[in-house]
Amino acid sequence: MIFSRIAGTGSYVPGAPVTNDDLVARGIDTSDEWIRERTGIRARHFAEEGVTTSKLGAEAARRALDAAGMKPADIDLVIVATTTPDMVFPSTACLVQHELGMPSGAAAFDMQAVCSGFVYALTIADKFIRSGSNKRVLVIGAETVSRILDWSDRTTCVLFGDGAGAVVLEADEVPGIMATTLHADGSHSDILSVPGQIANGVVTGSPFIRMDGQAVFKFAVRVLADAAHEVLTRAALPVDQLDWMIPHQANIRIMLATAKRLGVSEDHVIVTVDRHGNTSSASVPLALDAAVREGRVKRGQTVLLEGVGGGFTWGAALIRY
Ligand code: ACO
Repeated sequence: MIFSRIAGTGSYVPGAPVTNDDLVARGIDTSDEWIRERTGIRARHFAEEGVTTSKLGAEAARRALDAAGMKPADIDLVIVATTTPDMVFPSTACLVQHELGMPSGAAAFDMQAVCSGFVYALTIADKFIRSGSNKRVLVIGAETVSRILDWSDRTTCVLFGDGAGAVVLEADEVPGIMATTLHADGSHSDILSVPGQIANGVVTGSPFIRMDGQAVFKFAVRVLADAAHEVLTRAALPVDQLDWMIPHQANIRIMLATAKRLGVSEDHVIVTVDRHGNTSSASVPLALDAAVREGRVKRGQTVLLEGVGGGFTWGAALIRY
């Protein structure tokens, strides 16, 4: 049988960290204490003007390829999860392919599931590999969320950051990806959205993130716990044999509430929201790469990746790294 496993991880964040106090200095009516206590966020990164999602994604991909000991030409499919593409089209994945200097031929497409995007993209890549149609897939989550922030709305603008994470997924005889699950419920589209659209040369509706924070909080904790149970059951892995949990890095309180529901202790939860903020589809691969490079996630360990985001969408992937 064919399975897929992660051959290498990489990530990239642009520029210097912007602290909570830096936001106050920029004139946002907030405080370090409020942001830290409610969200766990201490800093985030913002891309300079002209630094696009594809550039962030390509840099993370280069680092993942290095870690896997591969060249761009070894890749036969590129999937980019993003909510903040460089342009309406071509896809960010095509732009990344070009930026990496990949020879013509490998397929490339974008995946839109907002903050669940990476888990969705990883699941799709796993299925392409298991079907035998592809052997080495670059899976990237990349975002310039700062471009869709309303700086006059303090309830949202303090939460997000820019960045990218990537993995190279490779065919193997033993399962790296043990179980996956994906879900969506479009009836909750109103609690988290960017409702604007481009039509006839103008943007109609708001081009900025709108969010009902408390509704998002409750929804996220419930579905993250449900998705975790699903993949653990499918893989027949008791929760006490789970080495690491890497949930979407939106808010420390959501992550710890989910871990508590599952019976996972806090020291088995990878947390990078403090330094990255919420980077939407980039958050899970950024956290995974940080944990790998810091020597916390090691080969052979079990890791639960979880995403939840606008749509609403949610999902989980249980892997043996
Ligand atoms: N700084 C200072 N005060 C603020 C700020 C801010 N940045 N934002 C809001 N406040 C004030 C409000 O005005 C309000 O003041 P009032 O009591 O005088 O009216 C007070 O803080 C409480 O506001 P709430 O909205 O009730 O704050 P809450 O405790 O719900 O915390 C938060 C807000 C942090 C957004 C919380 O609801 C949350 O964590 N929700 C989860 C949402 C999330 O993580 N979204 C990320 C994107 S979604 C995703 O990735 C899945």
